[in-house]
Amino acid sequence: MAAKGKRRTKAQRKTKIADGLAVIVLAAGKGTRMKSRRAKVLHPLLGRPLAAYPIALAREMGADPIVPVLGHQRDAVEAELSARFGAGSLRVVEQADQRGTGHAVALALPALGDFAGIVTIVYGDVPLLRRETLDALVGAARAGGCLAIVTARPPDPTGYGRILRDRRGRITAVIEQKDASEKQRRIGEINAGIYAAPADFLRAATAKLDARNAQGELYLTDIVAQAARGIGVVAIEAAADDVAGINDRAQLAEAEAMMRARINRAWMAHATFRDPASTVVEPDVTLGEDVELGRNVSLRGRTRVGAGARIDDGVVLTDTEVGAGAQIKPYCIATETVIGPGAVIGPFAHMRPGTKLGPDVHLGNFVETKKTVLGRGSKANHLSYLGDSIIGEKVNVGAGTITCNYNGYEKFQTVIEDGAFIGSDTQLVAPVRVGARAVVAAGTTVTGDVPAGALSISRVAQVDKAGYADKVAKRYADRPKK
Ligand code: UD1
Ligand code: CA
Repeated sequence: MAAKGKRRTKAQRKTKIADGLAVIVLAAGKGTRMKSRRAKVLHPLLGRPLAAYPIALAREMGADPIVPVLGHQRDAVEAELSARFGAGSLRVVEQADQRGTGHAVALALPALGDFAGIVTIVYGDVPLLRRETLDALVGAARAGGCLAIVTARPPDPTGYGRILRDRRGRITAVIEQKDASEKQRRIGEINAGIYAAPADFLRAATAKLDARNAQGELYLTDIVAQAARGIGVVAIEAAADDVAGINDRAQLAEAEAMMRARINRAWMAHATFRDPASTVVEPDVTLGEDVELGRNVSLRGRTRVGAGARIDDGVVLTDTEVGAGAQIKPYCIATETVIGPGAVIGPFAHMRPGTKLGPDVHLGNFVETKKTVLGRGSKANHLSYLGDSIIGEKVNVGAGTITCNYNGYEKFQTVIEDGAFIGSDTQLVAPVRVGARAVVAAGTTVTGDVPAGALSISRVAQVDKAGYADKVAKRYADRPKK
């Protein structure tokens, strides 16, 4: 990563580069090879749209402003990015006709106002780009007051711009595949399309671009030759996989697998993965120390798993918080749910949005919850639907209990106070309240409030008719049994 560019002249050394970092994200292209109605940069990779990766990196690095250049499906892309990053945090620039990477940057620069720090240019379809690479790039541009570019040596350089160097190894220019000679096409070192340079250099350099090339476009790559003749060029070499652009769905799948492996590997510093190859941990998820993940686990969105929690095979959690030491047995699904510390869940439990389970709650197999709170130590161990409910502490919800929360038009709430005991196969027809320590007998349909400490029972009295089986058998004696 040594600087191989020209020395700076006295005049250049005098030019002051202000602190601060601006990032331009080029994402106006159509992405024809995706063969999709959706803009390429909106295709998700591990649950996050491609275009969100460079913006998240820019954010992490404290870049301001961040300027996405959008064209194809501009409105949809802008809406998605604003939803993720906040409408005010991006200065979107529109490039209606895509007249080349140089044209895109020339349109973006005015959005920087009089910004005088380092400007980094990245693409919206290069999600595997690493923070370390950008840090080195920006550091090199700032230290040298020069243009820094990312290079790589992919197994097959076809299609990329090639790096031209002079006999002393100094970069002189980038030549595009379509403009390159046979000999130049044999060069294995390519331009990854990621740059950092002082803002003033970019303003002057992009103003000088022309479209006299094989594609009739304004090539951003032409700034490399300009810098070679002036402020100097430094190369930061990256692994080819890290700077590969996504052009089709096969590359999207490969990149997703690489990102998955990278994220899992990083969490393995303090969490155990039984089978990392089958485990999906999206980029915004966090795992505490000593978390254990089984096979085929998917942790999505902003899921947070507390220290020592165990998540067994086949569990899918989306935007869910799991408390320390909780245990989630196989094949549970939770979305927008809070699971308290020490809770024991599943197997086969379904927690829908608005579920809040206190510490040490037990939720067993085939229990579905929605907009429901269960207080500390409460249990619903078998076959239940609990919706729109507020359930206190130490409540026992028997097998087959159903909250009837919907009359076809409206939803109603069920409240069960601390220490109540709900017998098996109970229906609670909401709105209804069961008082503290009340007992609801098995098979009861509760339609009115139950006072604290009372027994509620609604059942037909039991009748036993002696000899019934023999009587029926006799009646059918002349018919052959099937
Ligand atoms: C460009 C580089 C090439 C480099 C390659 C790396 C130029 C002229 N060539 O190739 O040296 O090896 O990237 O991938 O820069 N975009 C716009 N507006 C445009 C054109 C492109 O926003 O007018 C965006 C695209 O959406 C994409 C990125 O810029 O995200 C790169 O465009 P693409 O056409 O893939 O790059 P090439 O020009 O082929
Ligand atoms: Ca490309």
